[in-house]
Amino acid sequence: MLGCAGVFVASAVSPCVVTAQVKTEPAALYKDAAVPVDRRVDDLLARMTLEEKIMQLCQYTAGGNTNENNVEVKADHPLTSGSYIYYGTDPGFRNRLQRRIMTETRLGIPAIFAQDVIHGFRTIYQIPLGQACSFNPGLAARACAMAAAEARRSGIEWTFSPMVDVARDGRWGRISEGYGEDPYMNSVMGAAAVRGYQGESLASGVSVAACLKHYVGYGASEGGRDYRPADISDRALWNTYLPPFHAGVEAGAATVMSGFNDISGVPASANYYTLTEILRNRWGFDGFVVSDWDSVRQLVNQRVASDDADAAMLAFNAGVDVDMADGLYADYLARLIGEGKVSMDRVDRAVAQVLKLKFELGLFDNPYTPEVPAEERVLTPDNRRIALEMARESAVLLKNEGNLLPLAGKRIALIGPMADDGAGLNGNWSCHGVAAETVTFRQALTRTFPATVYARGCGFDSISSAEISEAVRAAQEADVVVLCLGEMPKWSGENGSRSTLSLPDAQERLAAEISAVGKPVVLVLTSGRPLELRRLEPMAGAVLQMWQPGTEGGTALAEILSGEVCPSGKLAVTFPYSTGQVPIYYGARPNARTGGQGNYQDIQDAPLYPFGYGLSYTEFSYSNLRVSAPAFTDPALPVEISVDVTNTGRCTGKETALWFVSDEVSAVARPVRELRHFEKRELQPGETATFTFSLIPSRDLPYYTPDGEPVLEPGRFTVSVAGLSIPLDYTPAH
Ligand code: BGC
Repeated sequence: MLGCAGVFVASAVSPCVVTAQVKTEPAALYKDAAVPVDRRVDDLLARMTLEEKIMQLCQYTAGGNTNENNVEVKADHPLTSGSYIYYGTDPGFRNRLQRRIMTETRLGIPAIFAQDVIHGFRTIYQIPLGQACSFNPGLAARACAMAAAEARRSGIEWTFSPMVDVARDGRWGRISEGYGEDPYMNSVMGAAAVRGYQGESLASGVSVAACLKHYVGYGASEGGRDYRPADISDRALWNTYLPPFHAGVEAGAATVMSGFNDISGVPASANYYTLTEILRNRWGFDGFVVSDWDSVRQLVNQRVASDDADAAMLAFNAGVDVDMADGLYADYLARLIGEGKVSMDRVDRAVAQVLKLKFELGLFDNPYTPEVPAEERVLTPDNRRIALEMARESAVLLKNEGNLLPLAGKRIALIGPMADDGAGLNGNWSCHGVAAETVTFRQALTRTFPATVYARGCGFDSISSAEISEAVRAAQEADVVVLCLGEMPKWSGENGSRSTLSLPDAQERLAAEISAVGKPVVLVLTSGRPLELRRLEPMAGAVLQMWQPGTEGGTALAEILSGEVCPSGKLAVTFPYSTGQVPIYYGARPNARTGGQGNYQDIQDAPLYPFGYGLSYTEFSYSNLRVSAPAFTDPALPVEISVDVTNTGRCTGKETALWFVSDEVSAVARPVRELRHFEKRELQPGETATFTFSLIPSRDLPYYTPDGEPVLEPGRFTVSVAGLSIPLDYTPAH
């Protein structure tokens, strides 16, 4: 059996080391690839000292820290650490460290190398919020699989993604990292991401372990400011914030990250209820929980722990298995065990889960990453192709007055700070993305429309009369202006909150000056959050939201503007009319008074663009909504609800049908509508297709009590799609 490990190691380390290992561990079961994982885990665990066990629960960094929000890096990184956040791209460096771990530590337990591969590793895909707007979970899974392969082949086995924090406050910069305001969207897209990252087998050499974050309620941070408390009732926890995590666990996510926020006073990283009672006991999660960066030590800042040792005890006993960055488990767990404050059994369970993942990743049998040249593992044509597909499908056309788009053979004035900015298109959390490798709007448009003239017009937050004059001249000489405005990457993502969803004055002023020229304006937006567009929107004939579309963002824009690609994205997050409306989201509970009472006195009540909104170059009509049976008695049996969708326009296009359910009367007020299914399909002009929602009442209609019990009340429900609706009655069989 040792032969197996020996054969592999012989190809990766010097023969003398192999000999040494053969002598010291002649019959180690855990080294035998043919033995089932649980037995390998037990065997290894039985050989480990307490110190070795504790070190498996500690995570440090390797390489230069690229997350500037995380400044405190512990100086020493013991070789016995269970995992590293690896900031490099070179499998060689990683292998050298791994080789030292394998050969210089007593048991040769390989480390896991982790990284925030949030929307790509070197090839950058659309940000998750934009991916949600594609309403194409299959494509999102492919993008994650491509990112996983790039990462794994570059030495990373674990990504801290997907983020499935439901977010309803666009001021929160991290809204960009998740799938928007809706629990169901976050569930479907998060599960797709998990499947994409993890693939068929974690040991495949192209998959990485996923991490559901930030468990739980981080999206409700007060005022949209980062690292703040969250006040979440148990009912909201169960109905809004937990479902995406549950879906991710069901999809097989290997790990979960505990959040920075508190949940109504109990920090997420010291929360026995969410971490142990729900995650482990109710959902049966059998992976491990990693803290967020320093979130164990931060329990002291949050004033629930009196000192670092107390913080380590609280986090560990609540259910945080691995301590990211702050080193408190290394410093205090042994002492806490000695004092009887932490049990050995709890330590063994945590270590076993870490070891299990290492075996599943194939690290014991294959600890080194093949060192192939970068051009063979990153930015391949396949990577770029999926990045392009995602950028196309996630763009949302918000306005297209008089069919201004597509633009055929026009002289374009390309203006704006985002027009030639690769870094801006890569956006926040762009990992190892390189701005120069991203196709900018200018590069792509100049190829498609050779008569394009470019003038920046202003900076993201600065303006000069010289730049304005140049841009105005360009606009005067053109047939149409493509005005590219938006947010710098740092204005969203972690620690990227903003007090307003408006773009800075400089950009609004540029828009006003350009609009005054009188040429048609196509406003192209790049941002990591929903924007307040009420002043900009009237200045433009067409508005296209590109989000932060990544490496192929420019190509996608040129294809959409030229009409080669028909836009098909829909909003996964509401665009308010004014920032003052925040939080504003479609799934709100009903008002106590009708007839517009209670609305703001100074602005319209409706958002500028609601959830699910998005135009196309073609048109779709919905008809013949029907249900297999208008009433049901057995909630476990599916009810088929169908609608015919016809492409009534002149070009091929993709349409997403969004299916909502409403409970007409219930014991507690529920959201007016709840998304429960969606389907996207391509239709040729004149083609009609039947879209079907196979509704399972016990899955799709209940709400959760504050204790997490699903309740399905008898009575009438309504199912709606594209403004059509049909009743569905439930009478339980006795
Ligand atoms: C972020 C996490 C991230 C971690 C590691 C933290 O600051 O909140 O989302 O995964 O750093 O970089």
